[in-house]
Amino acid sequence: MARDLKTTAAPWVPEAHKLPLLREAAPSCRGCDLYQHATQVVFGEGPSDAKVVMVGEQPGDEEDRKGHPFVGPAGRLLSRAMHDASLDREKVYVTNAVKHFKFLERGKRRIHAKPSGMEISACKPWLEAELDAIEPELIVCLGATAAQSLMGGTFRITAQRGKFFPHPWAKQIVATIHPSAILRMPERYDEEYALFVKDLELIAAHLRELERAS
Ligand code: URA
Ligand code: SF4
Repeated sequence: MARDLKTTAAPWVPEAHKLPLLREAAPSCRGCDLYQHATQVVFGEGPSDAKVVMVGEQPGDEEDRKGHPFVGPAGRLLSRAMHDASLDREKVYVTNAVKHFKFLERGKRRIHAKPSGMEISACKPWLEAELDAIEPELIVCLGATAAQSLMGGTFRITAQRGKFFPHPWAKQIVATIHPSAILRMPERYDEEYALFVKDLELIAAHLRELERAS
């Protein structure tokens, strides 16, 4: 169907996978319909030689307004957990599986809406190009959307969380919970936060090993 043919970012992704070129081109993407209602594209940020790339789902309300990834409540939780796990956020490249904010309007509020499988795969050429530019040692999927994009729809966070797998775009890939999911479980916050930090500590240790081996 013509509609399906249109639903991909591929025609807007520059052939040369260099981060400054990709970042410059991303605002013109019309690969799916999500650009129509979002304020702006939110591209990945961090060093081009990062050893770790963290992939979230999509920008949230605050990210959409500010134009930077993980600067809202989930981003603040992520920063704190990384600090507690001795992972330097400055050294990590942070991005999202989908680059435009998807939401439902509820009066004046904009409520996060989950991106569809079609939107996730439409946006994947951007993620692929970022990973190709950076060639990280390790990809960290934050939550099911990133894991679905990079490891397929059958991947289950609950069963495979914290397990390392080889991947075509990095030496290894691992998935953990999304920080927003922790914020949605206030009654289990302390427990879930501690588990998240534990995963990040494991990731930090694993990274040291990967670096020693290379
Ligand atoms: N949640 C995400 O997945 N990404 C962001 O950038 C912010 C919140
Ligand atoms: Fe392009 Fe991704 Fe935005 Fe869709 S969500 S318009 S594919 S950048």
